Amino acid sequence: MLQRMGSKQSGTALVAGGAGFVGSHLCDALLARGHRVICVDSYLTGSETNVRPLMNHPGFRMIEQDICDRVVPEEPVDYIYNLACAASPPQYQADPMHTMMTCVVGTGNLLTLAEEQGASFLQASTSEVYGDPEEHPQREDYRGNVNCTGPRACYDEGKRAAEALCFDLLRAGRVDARVARIFNTYGPRMQPNDGRIVSNLIVQALSGKPMTIYGTGEQTRSFCYVSDLVEGLIRLMMVSPNPEVPVNLGNPGEFTINELAQMVLVMVPSAAGLTRHPLPMDDPQRRRPDISRAKDLLDWEPAVPLAEGLQQTVDWFADSLPTGAGGPSPAVFAENTATAHTSMRV
Ligand SMILES: NC(=O)c1ccc[n+]([C@@H]2O[C@H](COP(=O)([O-])OP(=O)(O)OC[C@H]3O[C@@H](n4cnc5c(N)ncnc54)[C@H](O)[C@@H]3O)[C@@H](O)[C@H]2O)c1
Repeated sequence: MLQRMGSKQSGTALVAGGAGFVGSHLCDALLARGHRVICVDSYLTGSETNVRPLMNHPGFRMIEQDICDRVVPEEPVDYIYNLACAASPPQYQADPMHTMMTCVVGTGNLLTLAEEQGASFLQASTSEVYGDPEEHPQREDYRGNVNCTGPRACYDEGKRAAEALCFDLLRAGRVDARVARIFNTYGPRMQPNDGRIVSNLIVQALSGKPMTIYGTGEQTRSFCYVSDLVEGLIRLMMVSPNPEVPVNLGNPGEFTINELAQMVLVMVPSAAGLTRHPLPMDDPQRRRPDISRAKDLLDWEPAVPLAEGLQQTVDWFADSLPTGAGGPSPAVFAENTATAHTSMRV
């Protein structure tokens, strides 16, 4: 095991996408560790609500802007975490060109800033770079099976291009760039209507509606609780020397969608059973990270079991959905169901 954490453990971190689901938890964790945090977010898919508790924190600054425009922070930054990108299929497919531009132009802008400031850079990449994988579990040296002309290409190929930019500038010695390939992550602050499998099932169950299962439900996914992911991201940023290779971050526990739905049914006894629909196009059949590299380089592995994280997520949704413990409003539910049918992220 190689674990040599850098000495520069505080300093100012710019978190692009910091008002999103993962980004807001990352902002919390960085502030708790004594960093100053500059959050850059256009609120495209994130929410001011996620960062509202931080607005009065003396170490927190908010810049509302699109990363496709040049980012000019008012103070020097030591670290740049780039999480800015719509992450669920209905959202990233709503404006596919903007998704691609966010990945390429936006990432390019932030890499330029990192070069100018001598800041370390972390790119939030994705397991989607493996496409519908022919190798299982997915190791970082697997090159993937991505459809470059399909409806998911704006995101999958955009993220692949962003990785290429990072490694080009790293090879040229211009930016200390790191790439995290994130697998399905869940937890509080997921949006109720963004079409991701965990939030979909929980929101439907809390609404007393049947939970939608796509295909046979025997396709598998791995689910990482958000606090585990955030710990992995920070370790990847801080590890020295730079691994200079992409690092998978995710939970290697593998569950079928049917198993996930059964767990939610147990946690939400009022749930109304299951309904089945056809699989969306290019939906991967199996997903599980090989996290040997993260274990070796970062001494990291997930600590939160699915049952525990799922219960915390169910509790959060029950408290925060518009009608309280009774579930979301019919409008939210209808939107959720409609988007999920066309292109659900699982
Ligand atoms: N959550 C997961 O399971 C998962 C899995 C793989 C990869 N990722 C990656 O992690 C990152 C965060 O994902 P998330 O789940 O928190 O999604 P999210 O949609 O909640 O967060 C993305 C944030 O980026 C902001 N954003 C989007 N485009 C922007 C732009 N052009 N300029 C400025 N801000 C912009 C959004 O407003 C939002 O706050 C994304 O880059 C995503 O691709 C997440």
